[in-house]
Amino acid sequence: MDQSFNYLISPEISKFRNFSPKLKIVILASGEGSNFQKLIDLSNSNKFDIDIKLLITNNSEAGCLLRAKKSNISYKIIQTSDYDNKEYFEDEIINTIKKNDIELVVMAGWMKIMSSKFVNAFKNKIINIHPSLLPSFKGNKAIKQAITNGSKITGCSVHFVEPEVDSGSLIMQAAFSISDQDNIDSISKKIHLLEHEILPKSISQAGYLIRNGFKGND
Ligand code: GAR
Repeated sequence: MDQSFNYLISPEISKFRNFSPKLKIVILASGEGSNFQKLIDLSNSNKFDIDIKLLITNNSEAGCLLRAKKSNISYKIIQTSDYDNKEYFEDEIINTIKKNDIELVVMAGWMKIMSSKFVNAFKNKIINIHPSLLPSFKGNKAIKQAITNGSKITGCSVHFVEPEVDSGSLIMQAAFSISDQDNIDSISKKIHLLEHEILPKSISQAGYLIRNGFKGND
């Protein structure tokens, strides 16, 4: 982890939980896939007991797809343009996940807002990473929103997914100060570094809860 800036991660989780058999996860990603890559690396180095059963992407040009191919991870491209409506698109994702015997759905840079039907199909089994300190700056362009707002502190959050966008109980957050020298690129870089720390640990925590019969916090 880059030590050139100060940050705070909470809660502190120093070790990954052990999962035997490995925790079966599916990754939903739309973009570059650096968070996905971090999970691949941890899994390959046997530091983290996860079995990445599948990548689902809605973008056939996405970097995450190349990463799946390079690491021999199964993948499926499911694009809205191939379906008559959003419901059919979501149904295909639901059916694909259900066929794959998945314990946890991980949105790692998934840029589509999903319906209540989708979220409820995997109730308490979906987590999402978002580049802000939720509940601030939900939705698109969260980093830009924080800059425009004149925020002095920002960061990233991992949370269980509820039907309302970027809502649901928080699992981990990371925060740092925005300096006068910062811009969208430097903030984005810092957020990614922190995301690569908190996403795996949040998966570990969520997996532990799910294996122990997690029914949500309500
Ligand atoms: C991450 O910063 C993630 O927080 C963000 O997309 C980026 C994906 O990076 N997600 C969202 O904005 C979801 N609303 P990556 O493709 O390099 O993992």
